[in-house]
Amino acid sequence: MALLKIARMGHPVLHQVAEPVSDPKSPEIRRLVSDMLETMADARGAGLAAPQVHVPLRVFVYHVPANRVSDPEQAMLPRVLINPEIIPVGDEMMVCSEGCLSIPGLRGDVPRYAKVRYRGLDENGDSVDGEAVGFHANVLQHENDHLDGVLYPQRIQDFTRFGYVEEMVR
Ligand code: NI
Repeated sequence: MALLKIARMGHPVLHQVAEPVSDPKSPEIRRLVSDMLETMADARGAGLAAPQVHVPLRVFVYHVPANRVSDPEQAMLPRVLINPEIIPVGDEMMVCSEGCLSIPGLRGDVPRYAKVRYRGLDENGDSVDGEAVGFHANVLQHENDHLDGVLYPQRIQDFTRFGYVEEMVR
């Protein structure tokens, strides 16, 4: 296990389209996933995508913290999605207040689909799929954007709601 260095906005790895993982069960991917989970926990993030740790592969880890959902039953322990597909269900949108470990200190309001379907592989190479709403849908869309080289500021429409957290709580 190791803590990985997190790339910050401006690093080219964050702006490229990541490649699919060819062998999800390889020791290299197992180690990457394990290190990403440790790095996410250490950095207190809700999600972390492989390009954020300088690895341009289609992998992300995430969790749904109990303090981000109204019903504690909706909280989710850390998990991984390899080669994910995120598909909007319907066209209803929601506004999400987002931060990103690659853009420390800032937050912004981002429009996201209210409901998505997700598919991918877990750490054992087994297929997972399901539907997500609320914060779960939010984090899936944010992390999947990282795999396409998109950071949340690129999706902001109202820039009056984008700024440093320390200033916004004044
Ligand atoms: Ni991010």
